[in-house]
Amino acid sequence: MKTLNVALIGYKFMGKAHSSALLDYPFFFKHGVQPVRKVIVGRHEAPLRQAAADFGWEEVATDWRTVVNRPDIDVVDIATPPSTHADIAVAAAQAGKHVFCEKPFTATLAEAERALDAVTRAGVKHMLGFNYRRVPAIGLARRLIESGRLGQIYHWRAVYLQDWIMDPQFPGSGS
Ligand SMILES: NC(=O)c1ccc[n+]([C@@H]2O[C@H](COP(=O)([O-])OP(=O)(O)OC[C@H]3O[C@@H](n4cnc5c(N)ncnc54)[C@H](O)[C@@H]3O)[C@@H](O)[C@H]2O)c1
Repeated sequence: MKTLNVALIGYKFMGKAHSSALLDYPFFFKHGVQPVRKVIVGRHEAPLRQAAADFGWEEVATDWRTVVNRPDIDVVDIATPPSTHADIAVAAAQAGKHVFCEKPFTATLAEAERALDAVTRAGVKHMLGFNYRRVPAIGLARRLIESGRLGQIYHWRAVYLQDWIMDPQFPGSGS
């Protein structure tokens, strides 16, 4: 089976989710590809080592720039705050790596254009983590709209309610 060595940048909330997804992937999808959780990257070595042990990564590294240039890395998976995405995506693309990037893509339109240009020029696979698109209820809503069953849509209002940042002292999450 073909293997793909993954470098995951960021090891906290989405880092844990991506680690789990990479582990589960061959269970759900039979595409003849086995992702290898090769190296997980963060800035602080002690919690990073703990995350690597908890999530099952082979190695740790504290400098993403070095990691994205490693010849043994095939895919760079970006799970850091949005202000860091463009620089990592551009460097990874220039090193010829496929890029998976968490949403929101970047903090500014200029950064988004720079990063998209880099992956397009490099000819690498690239994808953003808009995972809610595949939620069954959202897929159903799309089909209802596209089929015309709801008629002409003039206006819609939606709310996404969460209570986990009720504390006004909560630091910015970067999302
Ligand atoms: N798709 C989804 O459902 C979903 C859900 C939550 C968050 N997100 C997105 O995922 C991304 C990460 O969010 P999170 O909630 O995991 O944040 P987090 O704060 O929990 O984790 C961020 C990680 O990035 C690391 N990091 C920060 N700056 C770095 C740098 N310069 N170099 C290396 N590592 C660095 C931190 O050490 C940490 O491990 C954001 O873009 C966020 O919007 C997506």
